[in-house]
Amino acid sequence: MFYEIFSKFLEHTDPEFAHSLAIKFLKNDQIPLQYFASKPDPILKNNIFNIDFNGPIGLAAGFDKNAEIFHSAFKLGFNFVEVGTITPKPQEGNPKPRVFRFPNEKCIINRLGFPNDGMDLIHQRILEKPSKGILGINIGPNKENSTKIDDYLLCLEKFHELASYITINISSPNTPNLRSFHDVSKISELIDAINIKRKELSSTKPILYKISPDVEDLDIEKLSEVFLQKKIDGLILTNTTLSKKEHLTGPSKNEDGGLSGTLLYDVSNKVIKSFYKFVKKNIPIIGVGGVSDADTALEKIKSGASLLQLYTSLVFRGPYVASDINEKLAYLLKEQGYRSILEAIGSDNK
Ligand code: FNR
Repeated sequence: MFYEIFSKFLEHTDPEFAHSLAIKFLKNDQIPLQYFASKPDPILKNNIFNIDFNGPIGLAAGFDKNAEIFHSAFKLGFNFVEVGTITPKPQEGNPKPRVFRFPNEKCIINRLGFPNDGMDLIHQRILEKPSKGILGINIGPNKENSTKIDDYLLCLEKFHELASYITINISSPNTPNLRSFHDVSKISELIDAINIKRKELSSTKPILYKISPDVEDLDIEKLSEVFLQKKIDGLILTNTTLSKKEHLTGPSKNEDGGLSGTLLYDVSNKVIKSFYKFVKKNIPIIGVGGVSDADTALEKIKSGASLLQLYTSLVFRGPYVASDINEKLAYLLKEQGYRSILEAIGSDNK
């Protein structure tokens, strides 16, 4: 109820300003947010990437770009949090306005372009107050290096010790040419370089690749072959889409940028289903895009996702969305006869 009133206020507030207010509030980790979050049911326990997860719901990259509020996100009921995207040097991102909300469709367009404090400052911040929960660190290149591999290597070296897992982001539509890494020869070169660096660092941390929803079926087959051959640890499917904007209403519907939220749901599900057909459980998938309740969460799991993340439904449904989904998801799984969430993964996609 309180959040419904607050979200009316948000509708009339600049989205980036509202986000900065939320970050300011959540930065104060003395607030006992955990009292309103439910405890995850044991049916949701899972071990993926050799990490024990109490539940499947993670906070997607982009909300806590600078690793300022992940401690609070755990208290709200998120089972893991991915911070970033972090680049080697700090950068401002694109000119404002660059975030647009669509309350009717429960969607967001953003073209932020990786504004962040840079790897040194963020590394220091995490070091000073280390994570007690599962922390993914999402890394990417600075704008002027968007087609080069070196920036990923710098960030990997910086963060591998602090992270539970690292995400290689090749899929933001707002950094020019970044998506060229979806080309088979470029992704092979990137994975090889990352693997060599990981060996040098003697790191065993899982390294995941975050993919665009705007990939063609044929490319999915070729990419899957590369991922299987190079034995990558995991996939995050998907980032925001450049499609579907014709379904939006409101004055900002023609803005440039990536679309997230309910309209992304089917698009990202299709990509999850296609990749899962090739990689099965050999490469675990984190499903992202339009997860907003227990039904959408379960459908993504049945399509092949071992874990989930969300961002946009946190904005429209409020701070306890992860806790709420976990509670109802446990109920749905039991109602449908599953003994564990593991049994549901890919069950509609045999
Ligand atoms: C994002 N997303 C994102 N992803 C990423 O890998 N690095 C980033 O820096 C960002 N930044 C970002 C900002 C904003 C304002 C939004 C809405 C999204 C993408 C995000 O992690 C996720 O993949 C998509 O938003 C799809 O999930 P939802 O929002 O539909 O649950």
